[in-house]
Amino acid sequence: MNISSSNPSSYKYEDYRETADWLLSHTEQRPKIAIICGSGLGGLADLLDNKTVFPYKDIPHFPNSTVQGHVSQLVFGELQGKQCVCMQGRFHFYEGYDIAMVTYPVRVFFLLGVETLIITNAAGGLNPNFKVGDIMLIKDHINMPGFAGHNPLCGHNDERFGVRFPCMSDAYDKDLSSLAKETAEEQGCSSFIQQGVYCMLAGPTFETIAECRALQKLGADAVGMSTVPEVVVARHCGLRVFGLSLITNKVVTDYNSQEKANHDEVLETTGMRTQDLQRMHHQQYLQTATTLVISAGI
Ligand code: HPA
Repeated sequence: MNISSSNPSSYKYEDYRETADWLLSHTEQRPKIAIICGSGLGGLADLLDNKTVFPYKDIPHFPNSTVQGHVSQLVFGELQGKQCVCMQGRFHFYEGYDIAMVTYPVRVFFLLGVETLIITNAAGGLNPNFKVGDIMLIKDHINMPGFAGHNPLCGHNDERFGVRFPCMSDAYDKDLSSLAKETAEEQGCSSFIQQGVYCMLAGPTFETIAECRALQKLGADAVGMSTVPEVVVARHCGLRVFGLSLITNKVVTDYNSQEKANHDEVLETTGMRTQDLQRMHHQQYLQTATTLVISAGI
């Protein structure tokens, strides 16, 4: 798909409806839970049973991923008996997608009958107490691209999705977060569960030292390049949201440091290939998220 020449603001209710109806006619699953897997975290979809897989390119109106070699498919299936739909491969603003394309799947989920969105991402740790491998339950966000006018709800408001001025002070569901904390305690993984504020920047550059220091002063605990547009659109149409950040690296805030943020480190942490300890974290991460979905009774 030629991204720059498309005009996603021209998406109409009927486009989302057609996509949803096509999916409903190609699967008998009726998921109430949607999961968006972050960079390197697509393995969550592998945990689903009785899978039905739709490559994005086969789904009418669905944006297609530009990144070669990345999995880009919608997976319907069951997570311990609960029907879920999982996005393996998401769309990022920095790839050149308009913000409305980034969020297209969320409205489709809504029309499928989904009620809860679980969203995961890879993020840099701004909070000095965070360690690489920690999992941060997102309690709030800072929509930095939104400050610059890139809010997915700009433009005509279709009341069939939601109100013109949606509230964002309750974006992340407190009950699901408490449940996640309880689950983490039961599983003995509280030592690497954190809670905090996620700040989205457009990317694709990693942050300068001055930017990291500014974000810390603004009250952000983790920084990344995704999630917020999807959450805004999900809340607009009334979905409950639960968000998790895997802290893949610590940002650099010291001019004397030799460290540099890089994508390999992000992938290494999400893949957890190297160290046993980290591998354990990764598995527990998946398990925590899975158990949460199940025990939430959603
Ligand atoms: N900055 C921005 N995005 C990221 C980072 C980071 O340090 N780590 C993973 N995603």
